[in-house]
Amino acid sequence: MTYKEAEHRLKACGQEQVLRYWKALSEKQRKALLAQIATIDPASVVRCRAALEAGVEAVDNSKGKAPKVDVLKGAALKRAVEAGEKELENGRVAALLVAGGQGSRLGFDGPKGCYPIGPLTDAPLFYYHARKILARELRYETTIPFYIMTSEANNAATIRCFEENDYFGLNPDDVFFFTQGMWPGMTKDGEIILDEPGHIFMSPDGHGGLLAALDRSGALDDMKERGVTSVFFFQVDNPLVEIADPAFTGYHVLKDSDYSLKLCAKSDPFEKVGIPMKFGSAYRMVEYSEMTEEQCLRKTPKGELYFKYGSPAIHVFDRDFLAREAKEAMPLHLAFKKIPYVNEQGKVVKPSEPNGYKFEKFIFDILPKAKTAAFLAFDPKDEFSPVKNAEGKDSPDTCRADMQDKWRRMLAAAGVSCAAGVPVEIDPVYALDAADLESLGLLLLVD
Ligand code: UTP
Repeated sequence: MTYKEAEHRLKACGQEQVLRYWKALSEKQRKALLAQIATIDPASVVRCRAALEAGVEAVDNSKGKAPKVDVLKGAALKRAVEAGEKELENGRVAALLVAGGQGSRLGFDGPKGCYPIGPLTDAPLFYYHARKILARELRYETTIPFYIMTSEANNAATIRCFEENDYFGLNPDDVFFFTQGMWPGMTKDGEIILDEPGHIFMSPDGHGGLLAALDRSGALDDMKERGVTSVFFFQVDNPLVEIADPAFTGYHVLKDSDYSLKLCAKSDPFEKVGIPMKFGSAYRMVEYSEMTEEQCLRKTPKGELYFKYGSPAIHVFDRDFLAREAKEAMPLHLAFKKIPYVNEQGKVVKPSEPNGYKFEKFIFDILPKAKTAAFLAFDPKDEFSPVKNAEGKDSPDTCRADMQDKWRRMLAAAGVSCAAGVPVEIDPVYALDAADLESLGLLLLVD
């Protein structure tokens, strides 16, 4: 891109000030700035600015109803498992991981997926995801293509982690990396923020950036060519997730659903999770911060929480639904943050208070567009223990403890008692569940 082209692009969205330090920049800095401007879509900038000017519209959630949430047992469970196994055997299932986040709460230097979470092996988070996919491929003699969304900031390091680990045993031809978009930060007045005289402050466009990125990268077409219909979506920070589990996959297929969600009972009424609610015939995810105290505490006649279930972001999507929604604009969410900026004197300032906005899209905003949505309850102790914070709740310590408790339960179900404090780790390819352990007839215990 030339200077003239950059000027033209910025003019189209009223952001000419981005070039105000041009004269003082070195050749290298100029090149880098032009490259950044080339990635900016003027229409998106205009949309962000409009969202900023309009402010956040208060949405009325008071009429929201709790959705019907299914619990699979007995014959229904058997039917779902059979349908899911058939979907897997026919190669119609893909795994879709969002791993483009910045992981700022954890504060780890590198992609979160490279975080060494293995209780005994220090294996990275990516290891557990990849090995579970491989285990299902081996079990069902199938291929489960693995689509991984990264961001510009962590794409190279993510690919390096897979390469250095021989893709954890997966076939590299079936692993597809693609990057999400980045959006510039803005001041309260809608001006793009420079965090250095020759550099625009940009941040990932949220996990909802997934749809545009799937489309842009050709991943949606790749899924179609491979005959994929069910897309299992999960987040990088939860090594307990049962990727492409037959019961949930089959439940989704039997419900003929566009968007299926696993939900777990909240551990306290004010837990910080999204709550799906029904409005008329459509569903919408309501953030915990948008609920009133009355809604959080409301009880059923049986004394249970009325809005009992929250979403840990474990979904199955219909591929065609994703392809349809990838062509639509998604709502924007604004986050007021501390963003470094260049002051009048051309000096970089690190503010102590929030001073600018980041813009994000959230994947669950497509829920109201689903022609059919389905909700399945599950037990979080078996499938959900995210690594969000460096310490305390949802930290590496709590996650490692939960991983080991799950493995101990697996061992117990296979008839092996394992004392509470004994460290344990099981490679998912060795055994995905207690039945695998029993059929192997031998056990690997490490301490
Ligand atoms: P979180 O909301 O937990 O954000 O992401 P985060 O970036 O990982 O961590 P913090 O908030 O900075 O501490 C939930 C999932 O969505 C992905 C993350 O990688 C994680 O798997 N995500 C988030 C993206 O892929 N892109 C984004 O822009 C944001």
